[in-house]
Amino acid sequence: MDRTERPESAASNFPPMQVTLRDGRSATIREIRPDDADAFRAALERLSADALHSRFFSAMRPTEAMIERAVRTHAERERALVAVAGEAGTATIVGGGRCISGADRESCEFAVMISDGWRGMGLASSIMRALIRDARTRGLKRMEGYVLTENRSMLDLARRLGFAVGASEEGPSVKLVRLDLGSIARN
Ligand SMILES: CC(C)(COP(=O)(O)OP(=O)(O)OC[C@H]1O[C@@H](n2cnc3c(N)ncnc32)[C@H](O)[C@@H]1OP(=O)(O)O)[C@@H](O)C(=O)NCCC(=O)NCCS
Repeated sequence: MDRTERPESAASNFPPMQVTLRDGRSATIREIRPDDADAFRAALERLSADALHSRFFSAMRPTEAMIERAVRTHAERERALVAVAGEAGTATIVGGGRCISGADRESCEFAVMISDGWRGMGLASSIMRALIRDARTRGLKRMEGYVLTENRSMLDLARRLGFAVGASEEGPSVKLVRLDLGSIARN
């Protein structure tokens, strides 16, 4: 990796937050760090082909280069969060989400992923709310995401958070969900 092209993240300005899930388990949502690479790789390896397809629109396993890039965020234009469960030393990454600003610095594109066994508990909702608050704080005006039309769970979640669901330039199999961050906060 060329570190001149991928500077280390600036000091985190996203304070870690503790969330209690619907089944009583808890997790910490915090910014991803370079030393998360092994835990992040392990979390990706546990994902089913279906989950990979829903997230990356392909069942291809992320490469080492993609993992290295994912844990070293570009502080000025990217916010990447992980949800971590368990004690220090044996903590596991059980979910994550990121939002990357476009060249216009007005909009950002999100993606979110929760591990099997941790879904339906409100974790993606918590991560999305954190990303929305953070994007508002950073002055962004729109948050968007591409979601497979068959991905009812993600489309329902987006609607609950106030996103409008519309057609995308990718054709009928992919929806574009969009949230106006200037609108009254529902999140
Ligand atoms: C889509 C995905 C991110 C949802 O994560 P999640 O943590 O299960 O989401 P949440 O628990 O916050 O919310 C979704 C579920 O909880 C329920 N729920 C959450 N908040 C609720 C509320 N306030 N009231 C009622 N139900 C609620 C929903 O009914 C929904 O259930 P369903 O998925 O069975 O329909 C997860 O399934 C996943 O990782 N999928 C693979 C990757 C993917 O599709 N990523 C999206 C591409 S950007």
